[in-house]
Amino acid sequence: MKERIVLAYSGGLDTSVLVHLLTHRHGHEVIACHVDVGEAKDPEALAAKARAAGAVAFEFVQAREEFAEEFCFPALQANALYQGVYPLSAALSRPLIARHLVRAARKHGATAVAHGATGKGNDQVRFELSIHALAPDLRVMAPQRDHNLNRDAAIAYAQEHGIAVGVTRRSPYSIDENLWGRSIEGGVLENPAAEPPEDCFAWTRSVADAPDEPERVRIAFERGRPVRVDDEALSPAELIARVGEIAGRHGVGRIDLMEDRVVGIKSRELYECPAAIALIAAHRDLERFTSLRQTNHLKQILDQHFAELVYDGLWFSELREALQAFNDVVQRTVTGEVTLKFHKGSIRVVGRSSPYGLYDRALSTYDEADRFDHRAAAGLIELSGLPLRLFSRLSGGET
Ligand code: ARG
Repeated sequence: MKERIVLAYSGGLDTSVLVHLLTHRHGHEVIACHVDVGEAKDPEALAAKARAAGAVAFEFVQAREEFAEEFCFPALQANALYQGVYPLSAALSRPLIARHLVRAARKHGATAVAHGATGKGNDQVRFELSIHALAPDLRVMAPQRDHNLNRDAAIAYAQEHGIAVGVTRRSPYSIDENLWGRSIEGGVLENPAAEPPEDCFAWTRSVADAPDEPERVRIAFERGRPVRVDDEALSPAELIARVGEIAGRHGVGRIDLMEDRVVGIKSRELYECPAAIALIAAHRDLERFTSLRQTNHLKQILDQHFAELVYDGLWFSELREALQAFNDVVQRTVTGEVTLKFHKGSIRVVGRSSPYGLYDRALSTYDEADRFDHRAAAGLIELSGLPLRLFSRLSGGET
């Protein structure tokens, strides 16, 4: 049966083939929808390409600021790093793309939404769970998964049906890019023992090529969100781009992860996330400076849950909203400035200041300015030791 389908359209070979396949082989009407989360592709060229492949309509959504503000910054407030290292750049963009696919479906009266993710990755899970959560009535299609089209089959199909394979040099890698980071997989990287060749990196310099001189950058946060770089106020997307450029120039942000995917596969993933790595380092430091000990300790645990939930495709879930509500409260005092020092692939926090900083020199100093009541510490130990002494007496002491 002929259906109106909104397809997530990247403009690449695979999704162009899918437009053609859904239109000409299955007889559907395809609305191609491209969501710009930082790739800066030319909308005119994308529209022409989508229509040439058979799309009845094309939607371009400029979503960079929305992505930065509503997805990257909440992830930053959660210091979100999957398996301790991956800032979730690809994972964060999927729910946003899903949101716009659903909007386009409503606008065009479509009954289904389609994506080009494969059956082996996490992205199918993220797209589909997001769409189910936002629009349980819409049918979700995964033609790439159904047809199991590999790269060579897609090229053969494109050549057979006159779809432009693209003038750009064929990359040996599979790449996904947005403001928060760049993922690189495939090709020689599939050998986990092999060092990644320099040509897989585009946003970060190698340490050997990084400047010899260190560079200091001051980042100002308000309620856990970065707002200024060296006193210059920038929009969320501008700020991420600026910090990414500086960190990348100094060789900061390369990640090589033996990653556990949702579908059970272990894969080798390379990332370049210079902005995310720098901003998380700064944010985490400021938080330690301004938040209470108990808050810091619980938040570390919740942050890990936040990262896993985003990785698993549960952005549009009650739990993510609840964790974010917790963060909104505890980030009220995460306001202040952090100085980062970049040098030859390293990033260090070298200074911080805040009107809410809980550091009090009169309490921590060992010189004569000391105002700490040393006798109070004896009382603390006396009472904390009370149950220990009792337990030890009854259980026989030394073990
Ligand atoms: N493994 C990463 C993730 O699941 C990146 C996937 C990006 N896709 C790609 N075609 N490189 O978030």
